[in-house]
Formats: sequence, C-alpha cells, structure tokens
Amino acid sequence: MTKTPAAAEKTSQIVAWYDRHHRDLPWRVSPPMAARGIRPDPYRVWLSEVMLQQTTVQAVKSYFALFTSKWPTVTDLAEAETEAVMKAWAGLGYYARARNLKKCAETVAFQHGGRFPDTEDGLKALPGIGDYTAAAIAAIAFDRPAAVLDGNVERVISRLYALDAPLPGAKPLMRGLVAEMTPSERPGDFAQAMMDLGATICTPRRPACALCPVNGSCVALASDDPERFPVKAGRKERPVRLGAAFVAVDETGAVFLRKRPGHGLLGGMTEVPNTDWTARQDGATGSEAAPFAAAWRDCGTVVHVFTHFELRLTVFRSRVSRAIAAGQSTGPGWWEPEETLAGEALPSVMKKAIKQAMPEAFRPRPRILEKVSTP
Ligand code: ADE
Repeated sequence: MTKTPAAAEKTSQIVAWYDRHHRDLPWRVSPPMAARGIRPDPYRVWLSEVMLQQTTVQAVKSYFALFTSKWPTVTDLAEAETEAVMKAWAGLGYYARARNLKKCAETVAFQHGGRFPDTEDGLKALPGIGDYTAAAIAAIAFDRPAAVLDGNVERVISRLYALDAPLPGAKPLMRGLVAEMTPSERPGDFAQAMMDLGATICTPRRPACALCPVNGSCVALASDDPERFPVKAGRKERPVRLGAAFVAVDETGAVFLRKRPGHGLLGGMTEVPNTDWTARQDGATGSEAAPFAAAWRDCGTVVHVFTHFELRLTVFRSRVSRAIAAGQSTGPGWWEPEETLAGEALPSVMKKAIKQAMPEAFRPRPRILEKVSTP
C-alpha cells in the first residue's frame, strides 16, 4: 500500500518509541534481540495470541510459562492428553479456546509437518484462528505487513484521526488507516508498538498524552478531548410515553387499588388507576382522564424507564369519601390500608407514583414492642 508522508512519519515515531519503551513480554523477541537476527517462534506467538484473547497480559504470563515448559513445541502440545491441556488451561476461561488450541496444534503438527502457515489466509484456515489472530501471527512471527487491529489499536487509531464514526461500524475504516501506517519493514514490531501504546499511554481514561510519540499529530488531542474517542454507537433513544396515575385516598388513609390484566406488561400486578401510556403528546394525561370525579391535585411527574420506552406519569391525588366513590363507577378494585400497601404486588413504577402522592407511604414503621411482664 502506498503511504502518505504523514502516515509514514507517524509510523516511524511509533516504532522509535517502541525501541525505547517496549514491554518485555515472555513471548516477544525484543528489538535488540531481533537486531541480532533472532526471530520469534511462531508457536509461542500463536500460543500467546490465543491466550491473550479476552485475557489480560498479566493473567496470561503464568499460563504461558506453564504451557511452554510442559509443551515446548507445537508437536508436544498436539501429542498431549486433551485432559491435561484442559487442566493446564483451567482458570483462563473461555474453554472453547483450549479445545481449539489443541485441535489447531494437531492440525499444524500432523498436517503441516509442525510448521505454522506463514500467510494470513493459511493461518485463518486453522481451528480457532480468526481475522485478528491471523493478522497478528502473520505480522509478529512472519514479518508480513498485515493490519493488526485489536481493542488497544482501535483506540489509538480513533484518537489519532479523531474518527467520529462509531464502533463497530468504523472497523473497516480503522483497518484501512492501520494498513496505511503498517510498514513493510518491521510490521510485527509496529503492530506490537501500537498495542503497547494503547495499553500504556493511550489508555481508555486519562491518557498520558504528554508522553505520546505522536502527540504532535493526534487530532483528538488537538480537539482537547481525546477520551471522547473511540465513539461508541449510541443506544437507540428510548421513545417517551406519557400517562397519568390517580392516587385516591379515603378518609382512613386507604388507597384505591386495582389489578392489571393478566397478560402484557406488568401483567397481573397491582396498580393505582391510570390512563393508557401513549406516545402521543396530545393524549388524555390530565385530571380529565381520572377514573372518577374528585378534586384531583397535580403532585408532579414520575419517570420510569422500561426496556423499550420511558414512561412519564403525571400523578394526581385526591381525598375521596368511600361512599361517594362507591356511588360512581370506579370499576373493580379495593381500598388498601396505607399500612399494608408495602405487602401488595405493586411494581416499582406504581410505588413511585404512590410515593409521589403520599411521601409517607412505604416508610418502615417503628415496631411497638409489647411489654412482657415478668413474674
Ligand atoms: N495483546 C494481544 N497480543 C499482544 C501482544 N503480542 N503483545 C502485547 N499485548 C497483546
């Protein structure tokens, strides 16, 4: 891929930083060793990349040491008992990885003569190796200029270019930009440099921009808010529905309740009378929608978030004489004493509505302890 001078400059700054600040990791060949002609062992690179999927560098280190001492080559691992491999993996999680690891070792050992394929396509054909792992092994073990994009690299790239397109849709764009930056010389070191930059400098929160080798060309830093990137796809906004709830309180303090229909949202639960919950802003959500005539007082609005919508209920309260209410058509329901409201099957939204109208409701009552007289 042809490189713009700007991309090439970023690349050389990042690789120069890696020469000075790379992390020493057990599966790596450090730049000074590489300068002496030492190449990474593809088996160790593959093993580390599989272990590092979903697991931190710190957690992987001891497992990597155990595996490489028990099974120093891919053929050793292929010939091991599956049970022994599963036991050694125990604690790393995602056990499908261990089963695929064993299958992959067998394929390499028995079908490829113990040598890993040295291209992305060849690697991708192996069990348990996807796009990311194939690119990482191709670059790190075989010096192929593959574009390696993991979570750390996504963060670095999205900030360097202040990409407004949200993940995961922005991945192809990010991969294109990483491909443009990936050098034909030392592509493996470049990939690992980007990982280290993301892990140690360009961190999710409070990135250490002052220490970053590409802070001079980072568009997100110039915008003063690097933490805004990478932009995540916003959840779809929840629609808002409106309604009204009516808390009728009789002369004893009891509240008029009714049962919701057995099916649908909050099916079979208890409620105070309330209107339909409508998305229309012009629906009947005022006291005119009350179930019976009374002097309804507006007590304000409660908001309750359901999975698929947000409900804003205007709450009305009225003191109603039971006898007068009985003379009107209140529909089926009952008067529940305030003291026993808490024992009713009231969903949170209904409890909120009642509390809005009667702040004293649901408060734990002090228990009156009977005096026990001793003889
Ligand atoms: N995360 C995934 N692969 C890695 C590697 N090779 N070095 C550091 N962190 C990594």
